[in-house]
Amino acid sequence: MPTINSNYLNLKAGYLFPEIGRRVNAFAEANPEAAIIKLGIGDVTEPLPEACRVAMLKAIDDQGSRESFHGYGPEQGYAWLRELIAEHDYKSHGCNVDADEIFVSDGSKCDTGNILDIFGSGNTIAVTDPVYPVYVDTNVMCGNAGPANESGEYGGLVYLRATESNNFTPAIPEQKVDLIYLCYPNNPTGAVVSKAYLRQWVDYANTNGSVILFDAAYEAFITEQDIPHSIYEIPGARTCAIEFRSFSKNAGFTGTRCGFTVVPKELMGKDASGGDAALHSLWNRRQSTKFNGASYIIQRGAAAVYTEAGQEQVKALVSFYLENAKLIRGGLAERGLSCSGGVNAPYVWIKTPDGLSSWDFFDKLLNEAHVVGTPGSGFGQSGEGYFRLSAFNSREKVIEAIERITAKVAV
Ligand code: MLT
Repeated sequence: MPTINSNYLNLKAGYLFPEIGRRVNAFAEANPEAAIIKLGIGDVTEPLPEACRVAMLKAIDDQGSRESFHGYGPEQGYAWLRELIAEHDYKSHGCNVDADEIFVSDGSKCDTGNILDIFGSGNTIAVTDPVYPVYVDTNVMCGNAGPANESGEYGGLVYLRATESNNFTPAIPEQKVDLIYLCYPNNPTGAVVSKAYLRQWVDYANTNGSVILFDAAYEAFITEQDIPHSIYEIPGARTCAIEFRSFSKNAGFTGTRCGFTVVPKELMGKDASGGDAALHSLWNRRQSTKFNGASYIIQRGAAAVYTEAGQEQVKALVSFYLENAKLIRGGLAERGLSCSGGVNAPYVWIKTPDGLSSWDFFDKLLNEAHVVGTPGSGFGQSGEGYFRLSAFNSREKVIEAIERITAKVAV
């Protein structure tokens, strides 16, 4: 019998969203008449942009004749997509990122987990609290975090607290850490940061030889001026940061799957003898061995995001969800609930009323309003007493959810 990766036994019982799903299914079974509205997991609901669908249909036709058929593609993604990304997402925003530093994949959740393959053991890892659980769990899986304590935190991780008192923007640590996960616009709080704040991180990382793993999956939702869309807007970021991006939330690809990761060529880690090793080469090697590239059809769909029609349709989609967020935030605030986020992000972060715990508020909304959200404590200790509502749903359901919640909750 083979031995197992015992680090998995250190994981907390279940991944947050399946646990929510379990509770919702149990409730639905017991209450088949309840019309449940889901504002929990940040999964999109609106149709894919037409430009993407047309491009994918054409790509399917390409696969129908020998002349235009595509078998294995480049593991890094097709050059035509990488060039479009470099041009539209980086160069036009003044960021120096070349097409061959962009690795197209089947999504940024996978990449933020897989990136640990190229880092050694014994690194000090910092995560924000609250945090997107994938960063924590993937570190637990590879043995970086050790066992959890009774409050569910891991001794091997450094937690950077993001609370109301610091505007959900954690302080730069005093100690030296090797890897830092940052996500802005933030999941789950919806907070954004200024260039000046990110500059402090870049300076910290360059001074300490740290690498920032910057998750910018929600950058398309930034509406305010002067908020950085990419960490590469900050001078010095090329020597200390990897960036993850996704087509899931801007173009609705959660089920279609496409994202990308940027690894600048000058970004280094240390090998066993203390010499510099280029992370770009390691990630390239990793992808070439363990990944065969996102599908041709999907990459054609992603490329269509950058056409004139695609850009218009994606903007409309993002505005639609942001309007939902505004309605949620406004509706709940009117009822006296304290809310943040939802302006540059599709998530509204709500303080639970009456001192209810996050899970108690979850149960209350599920049982009384038949609305599903995400308990803040599922994202970490500092999320306790908070609750996340996602703006990803139809307008009709969002309005209905707000009505139902405000009928049951007031402060
Ligand atoms: C969330 O709800 O936090 C997101 O859907 C997670 C994800 O994109 O994987």
